[in-house]
Amino acid sequence: MHKIAVIPGDGTGPEVVKEGLKVLKAASEKTGFKYETVMYDFGGERYKRTGEVLPDSSLEELKAFNAIFLGAVGHPDVKPGILEQGLLLKLRFGLEQYINLRPVKLYPGVWTPLKDKGPEDIDFVIVRENNEGLYVGEGEFKNKGAKDEVAIQISRNTRRGVERCVRYAFEYTRKRNKGKKLTLCGKTNVLTYAFGLWERVFNDVAKEYSDITTNYAHVDAVCMWMVKSPEWFDVIVTDNMFGDIITDLGAMIQGGMGVAAGGNLNPDGVSMFEPIGGSAPKYTGKNVINPLAAIAAVTMMLESLGEEKASAMIEKSIIKATTKMKSMSAGKMGYTTREVGDLVVKHL
Ligand code: IPM
Ligand code: MN
Repeated sequence: MHKIAVIPGDGTGPEVVKEGLKVLKAASEKTGFKYETVMYDFGGERYKRTGEVLPDSSLEELKAFNAIFLGAVGHPDVKPGILEQGLLLKLRFGLEQYINLRPVKLYPGVWTPLKDKGPEDIDFVIVRENNEGLYVGEGEFKNKGAKDEVAIQISRNTRRGVERCVRYAFEYTRKRNKGKKLTLCGKTNVLTYAFGLWERVFNDVAKEYSDITTNYAHVDAVCMWMVKSPEWFDVIVTDNMFGDIITDLGAMIQGGMGVAAGGNLNPDGVSMFEPIGGSAPKYTGKNVINPLAAIAAVTMMLESLGEEKASAMIEKSIIKATTKMKSMSAGKMGYTTREVGDLVVKHL
């Protein structure tokens, strides 16, 4: 019995989560796996009502689950940063979800802004470090408000944190068994301390993986190649900040925020799965948002729970849906949010 905590969150989060759960239920009926869900109302509305974002006791409670399914975080009436840090980052850090796994896969029938590129060219995975770097929130203002003000933001990279991420990336590249090629994405020419450590660790760990071809590219070059020759990539490993940026680029070349999913993984603990787009306030409640990213997050969740068969089955069905839909963009799909969920269920 898989115990799944569900956090629909803000904006369109609840709508897409509902479709994800609809598909999860249908897949369980088809393949026979058992699960139970517990709903949590964390997010902007609860914060506005109670002043509470994510109490420490709830974080502890979440450790008893096998997985977390998250909708979206971010509310137009709440100052930016409060929910992002108090909910999303608190979950990622508090549950030691040190990997953010973000596949960049163009499904058949999905429009990509890259001319002359198709599903055979756009199929790689980004392994983003998820607990360190610039996201630790360390820093200070000196002489705040004055003409000579200085703002300092620290990127903290520990050998332990970098090594476990790099090791995960090597193992993942081996298991994926596609190009057996792992690219380190950094900025060793400028961020000499942070990526000096990353590069040394990467090269050390590489010695244990003679079956994996390794290479290195600066983050700016990675952006260039993701657009020009995405087929070069198999797996990319990078730090938290660069990972945040290049995965939005990745999402766009795979058809947009409507289809991109990710997993915040603690390989020894509780992992959390989410559509990577935001809460899209302007589409909230209109039944027009694309739920496929949330449904794809369910496939990643099932894979991590050991339900590979159900996961593969849903992915096939997503592909059936994408070939029928007019667009992946909200309001232009040719179907409503609920109808897209039904379409995936129908093809299971
Ligand atoms: C993401 C988001 C978050 C991040 C924000 C909401 C804090 O952009 O999941 O990529 O920067 O990690
Ligand atoms: Mn992001």
